[in-house]
Amino acid sequence: MRSVPNHHYLYTFAFVFILFPAFGVSAASTMSPTESLTISSNKTIISRSETFELGFFTPTSSSRWYLGIWYKKIPTRTYVWVANRDTPLSESNGSLKISDNNNLIISDHSNKPVWSTNLTGGNVRTTPVVAELLDNGNLVLRDSNNNNEYLWQSFDFPTDTLLPEMKLGWDLKSGRNRFLRSRKTPDDPSSGDFSTKFETKGFPEVYVRNKESIVYRSGPWDGIRYNGIPEITPVDYLVLNFTATDEEITYSYRITKSNIYSILTLTPTGLLQRSTWVERLQSWRPLWYSPKDICNNYEQCGSYGYCDSNTSPVCNCVQGFKPVNKWDLRDDFEGCVRKTRLRCDGTDGFVRLKNMKLPDTTKTMVDRGIGIEECEARCLKDCNCKAFANTDIRNGGSGCVIWTGDLLDIRNFADGGQDLYVRLAAADLG
Ligand SMILES: *[C@@H]1O[C@H](CO)[C@@H](O)[C@H](O)[C@H]1NC(C)=O
Ligand SMILES: *[C@@H]1O[C@H](CO)[C@@H](O)[C@H](O)[C@H]1NC(C)=O
Ligand SMILES: *[C@@H]1O[C@H](CO)[C@@H](O)[C@H](O)[C@H]1NC(C)=O
Ligand SMILES: *[C@@H]1O[C@H](CO)[C@@H](O)[C@H](O)[C@H]1NC(C)=O
Repeated sequence: MRSVPNHHYLYTFAFVFILFPAFGVSAASTMSPTESLTISSNKTIISRSETFELGFFTPTSSSRWYLGIWYKKIPTRTYVWVANRDTPLSESNGSLKISDNNNLIISDHSNKPVWSTNLTGGNVRTTPVVAELLDNGNLVLRDSNNNNEYLWQSFDFPTDTLLPEMKLGWDLKSGRNRFLRSRKTPDDPSSGDFSTKFETKGFPEVYVRNKESIVYRSGPWDGIRYNGIPEITPVDYLVLNFTATDEEITYSYRITKSNIYSILTLTPTGLLQRSTWVERLQSWRPLWYSPKDICNNYEQCGSYGYCDSNTSPVCNCVQGFKPVNKWDLRDDFEGCVRKTRLRCDGTDGFVRLKNMKLPDTTKTMVDRGIGIEECEARCLKDCNCKAFANTDIRNGGSGCVIWTGDLLDIRNFADGGQDLYVRLAAADLG
């Protein structure tokens, strides 16, 4: 009698053993410490619903090998993440595996590690870890018996692409700022010169840098979009999410319809660009990109100057200000100075400028709890306050931001932007 259940178990195991390897070859979403990906085996890891694939690749016209993630469902190879972008393998021999101390490592032909997740303390773990490629394109390292807590995730180390559900910006608890860095050329994933980072000072916004210098800023989040990118218009399949709390200052987005692919990238030439895959055309199409015109160049018009792409020259002084120098109109605009000194005795007032990209927010103070009247009163009482505006333009406007330094990098838009109130002496209010 006892042998009957035993037989039963035997059959179950046989069934499992026969089916699983067959499944594993075509669609494993995980890799255990006993497995590896090698260049020579051509094996890849595929997320559960087969949206993303992880494996080694070599760009055309190159003999360097990278570990990357791409959309399995999109025929045009689009690398959305690259692990060893600056340490490629020079020979077509290498592997990805989980090391004895529970790190993901890429090793070259001589078994030398060229890339590692660099986690410490991994050798004291008691449960085995597993790497998994999730359906949102996140490669995670986790305990094999815990699906929800990640020891490491690729989403914390973006390359040049922000995928849906990935966060750009600050995790204030860990102090990590997730940012994009461009690739050198469309065909070369190694680190390029452009980066895009959230700044946490004052009213957060995104700065694009070429090496160390700021070339462009997005303008702060106005509740709907970045204030300096009016091209961002609501699209029915995208939910944009800007979050500023004590724990994080992040931007992310979700896609609410299936079979739609949309990504945000920092291009090799420093454009922030949203592209959507168009099935009919079998290609990525830009929905918007930024910067678009000369007025987006950082500090094009100096302090208290504003850039208007419909005037010639493009630089103008804010009402109540005059050019610092008699300038050669087209060349070197050094900005503007006040015609009349501020009195700070309660007689100063404000001029309202419409459709503005708000000035650089480095020297600002934010209070999201008050409205525009209180904001004006607060600005008037503070002799350092040079301007104020709403922090959120939805529902008629709310919140208060005041500028405590000179106003830099302002422009106007034909359509978009928001009201900016600039402090002037009574004599200049006219
Ligand atoms: C790996 O896969 C690619 C594309 O499917 C194929 O062209 C190549 O010959 C394969 N290489 C090996 C070693 O199987
Ligand atoms: C790759 O390198 C390893 C380690 O040197 C070696 O054992 C293996 O034979 C090489 N594989 C191929 C396909 O060249
Ligand atoms: C891991 O540490 C090494 C040595 O400090 C460093 O060069 C490398 O960039 C780190 N890798 C990652 C993925 O951060
Ligand atoms: C936006 O992101 C935050 C945290 O990153 C999250 O708590 C919140 O639920 C998200 N909101 C929406 C509408 O997705």
